Amino acid sequence: MASGSGSNFEALVQACRNGQVSADVVQLIVNNPGCGAQRRAERLGVSCQLVDHRLQANRAALDQTLVSAFQSAAVDLVVMAGWMRIVTPVLIEAYRGRLINIHPSLLPSFRGVDAIGQALAAGVTVAGCTVHLVSEEVDAGAILMQAAVPVLGHDDRDSLAARIQSQEHRLLPAAVQLMALRLDASGLAQG
Ligand code: GRF
Repeated sequence: MASGSGSNFEALVQACRNGQVSADVVQLIVNNPGCGAQRRAERLGVSCQLVDHRLQANRAALDQTLVSAFQSAAVDLVVMAGWMRIVTPVLIEAYRGRLINIHPSLLPSFRGVDAIGQALAAGVTVAGCTVHLVSEEVDAGAILMQAAVPVLGHDDRDSLAARIQSQEHRLLPAAVQLMALRLDASGLAQG
């Protein structure tokens, strides 16, 4: 699931293709027509479905469309790789323990929007990113993996975001591999 540039989506596809991660990215869902993630999927040859939230009755209806798409594709794990919509229990309950999100802060600090701006405003000297299981409370599910980066004196949003993103591109595949092993061990993966 992606809403923006899709750099995390692409990092995950590449890690699966080069054998770092024992998984296949079978489907991308985007909510913004023409977003970078959609263009990356076309270039990478990954099936991409547009589900425009503006055409859905409400958040629950959007999530029900996603659940149906994931069930049709028989996915084992759902990854929110820059999904800029709040998800509802419709999706969370259908994929409980199999729905993960990447967030650009060291949770539990700086939940919600503009985590990087929040970190700069707070004056922290260490920032980072977190991959966590998704639960009903936004950015509050069980933490799977984290990576830290320094905040430098001259940093602005762009420079700090770039440093965090380079760690995200390493962390997200690592967390998906962890989940693949967990799901395999628990017999939840379909093959
Ligand atoms: C990432 O920084 C992620 O932490 C946040 O959204 C951003 C997505 O970036 N949730 P991209 O679309 O993967 O480039």
